Amino acid sequence: MDYLQIIGGNTLKGSVTISGAKNSALPVIASTILSNRPVKLTNLPNVVDIRTLLKLLKMLGGEIEHNGTTATINNANINSTKAVYEIVSKMRASILVLGPLLARFGECEVSLPGGCAIGQRPIDLHLKALEAMGAKIEIKGGYVRAEAPDGLKGAKIIFDKITVGGTENIIMAGALAKGVTKIINSAKEPEVVQLCEIIRDAGVKIEGIGTSTITIYGTNQKPLEFKEIKIIPDRIEAGTYLCAGAITNSSITLKEVNPTHIQSSIDKLEAMGCSFDIGERELTIYPTNRLKPINIITSEYPAFPTDMQAQFMAVATMAIGESLIEERLFENRFMHVSELNRLGADIWLKGSVASVRPVAELNGADVMATDLRASSALVLAGLVAKGVTNIRRIYHLDRGYDNLEGKLLSLGANIKRLSE
Ligand code: EPZ
Repeated sequence: MDYLQIIGGNTLKGSVTISGAKNSALPVIASTILSNRPVKLTNLPNVVDIRTLLKLLKMLGGEIEHNGTTATINNANINSTKAVYEIVSKMRASILVLGPLLARFGECEVSLPGGCAIGQRPIDLHLKALEAMGAKIEIKGGYVRAEAPDGLKGAKIIFDKITVGGTENIIMAGALAKGVTKIINSAKEPEVVQLCEIIRDAGVKIEGIGTSTITIYGTNQKPLEFKEIKIIPDRIEAGTYLCAGAITNSSITLKEVNPTHIQSSIDKLEAMGCSFDIGERELTIYPTNRLKPINIITSEYPAFPTDMQAQFMAVATMAIGESLIEERLFENRFMHVSELNRLGADIWLKGSVASVRPVAELNGADVMATDLRASSALVLAGLVAKGVTNIRRIYHLDRGYDNLEGKLLSLGANIKRLSE
């Protein structure tokens, strides 16, 4: 199995190009089910999760040409509407095919994703919303079986909790439904905005894009005609490289980034003493050698993202005072704490709050990645830890970071991928 070996202490410099957003590409790929014509996608990140979802579409009968950052998907001849356990258990986001399959074919079976390392992650809100749109749903043998023989009908959906995937599933379902679907308390993440925009550009009237009330005027099962789609930059990858600059006290320039999407991370790093040059598609971080402590509470966009919590915790270990980091979205997203402590950090957990106390230095050790963002926090810590850090189970990283070690290497890090 592959692992990453980092010898910490190098200062980084230069620029890094940010890849397309995994969490935008996934719903966009799922949305191609709403069409029966070829759709071309560009700026896809070259990561395992994308290949997994494309494999699922292939299993359903989709025809796919995939070449690194570009794919053409033709879902004209889908002949199965069953998303099997083998794929869904590997990647929760496969649940995103539920809305579009049901909307286009009036039936589908999707394996229940189950929990994952960061929390229980139920899909009750997706299911309740689809039921409100007329779907009949039963859970049997570990599968969600959904039916809407006469098609889905527009409905008013009030989400009890803001859910990114739930909002995306209902936007896709609403696109082919009969009548108007109004989503209240919808997610406002840039990835949700991109999904709305590509569906709007495919001919569906959508109001309230980027707000907490989205109204979709369904086509009554008329398939969509997508234009070519360019995936937006990955804001979490971008934030991770900013953290790499902050933790190693290095100036790094990010290219092909949307600075607006990472404003909350920029704000926190500014509060820690870093400064920035912000262009339209480019961003340079100027670090400080006296990082101030920080208080963070994770929340929905545009507030501070849970997907950046672990990386900021790594940076906070190098601050000159105690930082407090509260995780409000997922009940178990602190698996990196004990691994960071193995590297010499002094982090204490009380419920959903982590207290990160200052330490003079981190020291290299063998650590284990537990989920995607936890893994990147360990890489960040490894970049400053004295000596050798070996990070195992990096298949988590490969799911969502495009060429992480190659990009860090080109910035001057001492990092290599090894096999054992
Ligand atoms: C998306 O997951 C992202 N994944 C996650 O990124 C991200 O952490 C999360 O949004 C929050 O921003 C993708 O976009 C593919 P949610 P999602 O539904 O859609 C609860 C990464 O590292 N909830 O917004 O699954 C849920 O348990 C990943 O790239 C219900 O209770 O997240 C959580 O507490 C990890 N019932 C909260 O809502 C439901 O039916 C938010 O989850 C659905 C969600």
